[in-house]
Amino acid sequence: MLRMKPIVFALPGNEVLAKNISKAIQADLGELIVRQFPDGETYVRVLSDVKNRKTILVCTLAYPDEKLLPLLFLSKTLKSLGADGISLVAPYLAYMRQDKVFNPGEGVTSEYFASLISEFADTLITIDPHLHRRHSMTEIYSIPCKVLHASSLISAYISEHITNPLLIGPDVESEQWVAEVAKNANAPFIVLEKIRSGDRDVKVTVPQVEKFKNHTPVLVDDIISTARTMIETVGHLKNAGMKAPICIGVHAVFAGNAFEELKKSGVDKVVTCNTIPHSSSEIDVTDLIAIYIKK
Ligand code: R5P
Repeated sequence: MLRMKPIVFALPGNEVLAKNISKAIQADLGELIVRQFPDGETYVRVLSDVKNRKTILVCTLAYPDEKLLPLLFLSKTLKSLGADGISLVAPYLAYMRQDKVFNPGEGVTSEYFASLISEFADTLITIDPHLHRRHSMTEIYSIPCKVLHASSLISAYISEHITNPLLIGPDVESEQWVAEVAKNANAPFIVLEKIRSGDRDVKVTVPQVEKFKNHTPVLVDDIISTARTMIETVGHLKNAGMKAPICIGVHAVFAGNAFEELKKSGVDKVVTCNTIPHSSSEIDVTDLIAIYIKK
């Protein structure tokens, strides 16, 4: 029997990445309608034939609350139409940071979110999820998960565009990314100490950076959300007499006007990956995902 091509669907806002992935893996691009009824409920209609076909849904999960129901309804609809397995490509995976009870009365929402996704997707492919206290996705997800890393792409960007870089991780959680990126970019790195006392209240301590005065500081972190972590670090580097830094984030969450505030804080440039589409997304993750799916 002729093997049917897989079919890729873009959830709203993911059209470019889905199209590029489908081209790269020589799959079909599925057609669907996802829209809101006037009362705010979600309408989903699949227009392509999915019977017995491997189905790939592309949906990055920044601002996840509004994305979850369309994703769940689409997955259930595809299964009702006979799709042969649903792979969710979520280049940014949300709810990874509330991974323990920080204050009495809180829930571990990363676990609840994982069990919801595991209920309707058969596999999950993601990029640099915020695994900090958890070491593996299988601790919370019950479906097979593939974790891809953007570090080689970031190293290549640094090697190609930045002269004499000093990589800087704003906190111990960032060390895993910074160390890997620095190794591949053949650059030195330092890791700072961060204390967060509220959503937008961050203090960072900068160790002796004087010996790196002639370097270009490159801040590297997985997520830029309120950008307070980056902005606080930029301020300290300025006080230490360092050059204006380049900020590189894997995931451009940019809550509210965080991007504008970061740009105004004295940075040279802000660069992110297109795990979340944004005007700063100069680093393209299409091939990273496509090569894995092809394999
Ligand atoms: C947390 O440890 C992460 O690695 C990032 O440093 C953090 O999410 C950045 O958040 P924000 O941009 O809100 O300071």
